[in-house]
Amino acid sequence: MGRACSKYNDQDEFLYDPKLLENLDWAFVLQFLNPPITNEQPGEEWLLVRPLKLSDFDRGYLQILSQLTNVGNVSKANFESQFQKMRNTGGHYITVIEDTKINKIIGSASLITEFKFIHECALRGRLEDVVVNNTYRGKQLGKLIVLTVTLLSKKLGCYKMSLDCKDALIPYYKSLGYKSEPGNSNSMMNRFEKEDPS
Ligand SMILES: CC(C)(COP(=O)(O)OP(=O)(O)OC[C@H]1O[C@@H](n2cnc3c(N)ncnc32)[C@H](O)[C@@H]1OP(=O)(O)O)[C@@H](O)C(=O)NCCC(=O)NCCS
Repeated sequence: MGRACSKYNDQDEFLYDPKLLENLDWAFVLQFLNPPITNEQPGEEWLLVRPLKLSDFDRGYLQILSQLTNVGNVSKANFESQFQKMRNTGGHYITVIEDTKINKIIGSASLITEFKFIHECALRGRLEDVVVNNTYRGKQLGKLIVLTVTLLSKKLGCYKMSLDCKDALIPYYKSLGYKSEPGNSNSMMNRFEKEDPS
């Protein structure tokens, strides 16, 4: 493994290849961040943006998700089984922010990709399960993780990325370049093609 990947010393544990997070097209979205940060330069040296790892069960990953919705009773065995299913199926790009000072996951967003026959066998992305630990909010980390998976979907060749959100979060996603679908303002899209099919 080259020097550039030295922070990823346990490749087998990742849900997806961490190299996919290198050289994302931040110029496309830097206007939405002030001050500018990226997944490779997240503002603080102890923050690491990376794919979910099998060992993140022990870094409080499910506790973070419980700030989003009900997680229920998930044992380590359940977690590992579901993780392996996601990895084997492909198309699951759960991306997290780790605070390496305390060895804890403090933010997460999921990109799920979907192969289509329509639009000449297009690939579509969906944004799911966005959350930042409540003690870390208001520092642009939510924007960072949403924009990271948005740019990842662009890099993977998705023609659009979509999400569903509550009314209160519509302005939040608008501030990150997402637009509401006509007639359904809670369904929001970020389209990457100039002349875009619907
Ligand atoms: C939504 C969430 C991810 C934002 O994370 P964050 O790190 O605090 O957000 P950022 O620091 O990047 O951005 C802050 C901006 O988002 C806005 N914002 C944050 N949470 C918001 C909310 N719940 N509703 C509306 N606006 C919100 C803030 O007002 C702020 O606006 P400003 O930039 O104009 O000042 C976080 O509040 C969270 O985890 N909430 C609980 C889970 C959730 O609701 N997830 C979204 C599911 S669609």
